[in-house]
Amino acid sequence: MFYAVCWLLFNHDKSYQAVLPRFLSVRCPNAQVFRKAVFYVITVYASGLTLTSMAGYCGADSNRISAIINLENGKKYMAGDQPMNHHDSNESQIDDGAVKRYFDGARGGTAATVSMMTHEFNLPASAARYRLHKEIRTISDWLNAVNESWRVLDVGCGAGTWTEIFAKRYKTVIGIEQSSLMLKAARERVASLPNVEILEGDGRHDLPEGSFDMIFLGGLCMYLNDHDVIELLRSLKNRLAEGGAIILRESTVHQGVSLSQGEYQAVYRNVNLYRQLFDGAGSFRVEVRRNYGYTNLVTAEELVNLRREWLPFLPKDSTKLGSLTWWMLRGTAPISFWAIPQILSQLSIPWPRLQNHFFRLSFEE
Ligand SMILES: C[S@@+](CC[C@H](N)C(=O)[O-])C[C@H]1O[C@@H](n2cnc3c(N)ncnc32)[C@H](O)[C@@H]1O
Repeated sequence: MFYAVCWLLFNHDKSYQAVLPRFLSVRCPNAQVFRKAVFYVITVYASGLTLTSMAGYCGADSNRISAIINLENGKKYMAGDQPMNHHDSNESQIDDGAVKRYFDGARGGTAATVSMMTHEFNLPASAARYRLHKEIRTISDWLNAVNESWRVLDVGCGAGTWTEIFAKRYKTVIGIEQSSLMLKAARERVASLPNVEILEGDGRHDLPEGSFDMIFLGGLCMYLNDHDVIELLRSLKNRLAEGGAIILRESTVHQGVSLSQGEYQAVYRNVNLYRQLFDGAGSFRVEVRRNYGYTNLVTAEELVNLRREWLPFLPKDSTKLGSLTWWMLRGTAPISFWAIPQILSQLSIPWPRLQNHFFRLSFEE
């Protein structure tokens, strides 16, 4: 269907043909050839996406595509021979030592790319910028609701990407981080900003004094056991000033809960499980938003992994191929980022396997 639409657009629709050369012929003397090249590249890529989807579906098992992706994700989603597990007991989900070790090592990236979780996939720097801009847009009204003179706490601040954003908007900002690599990067990042302090510590035990009007947890709870999430949110609730809010950003799964074990440890919960944890921590008013910025980036990461698995003769860590994947996805959005995931979800194929959500917790009125 996509092929047919492309073909019609690129070859038959006169109005489109009239507009396109103006767009494309800016630097290309031969718009006709360039247009055809664009069409074929998009078509080949869309065919790849379609085949990928069909491969998952033909397994007649909605878990199949996840299985392919899990196997593919190697280091990130499985360790040793142990694939990502579906977890349904109360046993400990996370080894805290492993989490600290992971963020203390740059893993072939920089502190900033590890903090944004864009390392390992050779995506261009613009992919991380795209994610961040889209994320800020997604919660802009939540951020605007915070008065400039208020105090903000960023727990698990990583390399300080968000801490810096907060420090440019609000009067007093404190970041807390347990990894020394991240800590150093965050301190360097905000060195010129006088209103921000980065503290070393475990967010669960070393909260700074005083109350806060906004508390931000960007991708922190996914590294904590259920019990710790509840305890942390309880103590943060006690630090929340009247009218304030806790904002969380977490990677989520469509259903149930999945664990990544080994070198990279994380617990991926579904939205309802997060709601249950929030209930366990106190009575909050909860707002939930999908984080398309992050989910779109994950789509690219999962495609990179599929390419590494299915086309092993291509260089695994090629920045050119990483960039190609990213720009193909961006170039074919919203088909790539929206329509294909929608169609697959109608077929009960959860793809991309990981999602991401923002949660805003405030006092119930
Ligand atoms: C995925 S990174 C996100 C960083 C940052 N919040 C952002 O959004 O860019 C998660 C960060 O949480 C930190 N972290 C994990 N557990 C922590 C804990 N118990 N206390 C403090 N920081 C923690 C990690 O070291 C890592 O830097």
